[in-house]
Amino acid sequence: MKYDFDKVIDRKNTYAVKWDEHLLEEFYGTSDVLPLWVADMDFQCPQPVIDALIKKAEEGIYGYTWHKHPTYFEAIKGWMKRRHNWEIKDDWIVYSPGIVPAIKVIIRNFTNPGDKVLIQTPVYYPFFSAITSNGRQILNNQLKLVNDRYEIDFEDFEEKAKDPLCKLFILCSPHNPVGRVWTREELMHLGAICLKHDVLVISDEIHNDLILPSYNHVIFSELSKEIEDITIMCTAPSKTFNIAGLQMSNIIIPNEKIRKQVDVAFRDKNSLGIPNAFGLEALITAYQEGDDWLDQVMEYVDNNFKFLESFLKEKLPDVKMIKPEGTYLAWVDFSSFNMSEEDRKEFMLKKAKVALDYGTMFGEGGEGFERINVACPRSILEECMNRIINATKE
Ligand SMILES: Cc1ncc(COP(=O)(O)O)c(C=O)c1O
Repeated sequence: MKYDFDKVIDRKNTYAVKWDEHLLEEFYGTSDVLPLWVADMDFQCPQPVIDALIKKAEEGIYGYTWHKHPTYFEAIKGWMKRRHNWEIKDDWIVYSPGIVPAIKVIIRNFTNPGDKVLIQTPVYYPFFSAITSNGRQILNNQLKLVNDRYEIDFEDFEEKAKDPLCKLFILCSPHNPVGRVWTREELMHLGAICLKHDVLVISDEIHNDLILPSYNHVIFSELSKEIEDITIMCTAPSKTFNIAGLQMSNIIIPNEKIRKQVDVAFRDKNSLGIPNAFGLEALITAYQEGDDWLDQVMEYVDNNFKFLESFLKEKLPDVKMIKPEGTYLAWVDFSSFNMSEEDRKEFMLKKAKVALDYGTMFGEGGEGFERINVACPRSILEECMNRIINATKE
């Protein structure tokens, strides 16, 4: 079927994090803003998923749910094979309600207090607290902006990986917020360094289905058998199909020893082993019947990126969007506004009345940037940009 992503759906008063006025008040100090911040889409998910959830709702019994059923495994395996040419086995899959909870449990179980965890800023900000709130230290291999494209500083990465306290690397692939889809060569280089210095890898690939035309995503654990053996793959249908509120993730771990340790940590130590009844239905249906919807959504997102790029070129030529390769998050350089971070925050919220994610939230290297979520009807994106333009004229 053909989906209409131009349709504006009122998400106010639906408990949606992105639009909830109480949360906006708490987070931004005002709810009088157009929100293009948190990474979910303002689009309805695939129709077969909606139908499956209505059917589930009509059952009227929402008891404990067990996922280890052939249909669940086939749905995940089928998706990974079709979309990523990645063959996985049933027992590699560990259920988690989310990627962030999984990362936190893994940090606690594979590193000791005081150990160091490598990340690459600017990066998805919950990585910071996942590390520090568990008493571990951040080692930052900051990404380099070279000719308007982010690159990895491999020399610095190896320096950091060499540190005897460095036990874990959290790779963000594709990268949120800079939008890079890492190449096979880049990933091989990272993998080789981690192997050399005995660093375990969490490959957070929550955005790996959201790839723009002409880019190719490479599954990190597929690089080689040796790399597979040091990698914990974090995947999910949550971003892909806009079902994050249903809390279903697939942590895929080919190495048996690591997997057993993760499984014990999730199920025995933290009771994270039983999924949500609706989440399970949604995951199975989305992976079985969501290809067509995803292809259409990515075409729409790609056109929104193109719209944003030409809008900026024409109306705010000094504001530059980093060319996105994946995700639905635009990483936009507003440093030509010549404002302090605080003043720009104030400008976006109070003058333009838009809620974006400030660059500095993503750590070092985020200064001057704003992250704009373009997974919304074009009219909302256009309204956001017009509000910014009008505010600049005041
Ligand atoms: C890189 C990355 N990892 C994890 C998450 C969130 O994962 P979850 O909601 O499954 O905890 C996000 C959400 O934006 C993300 O961008």
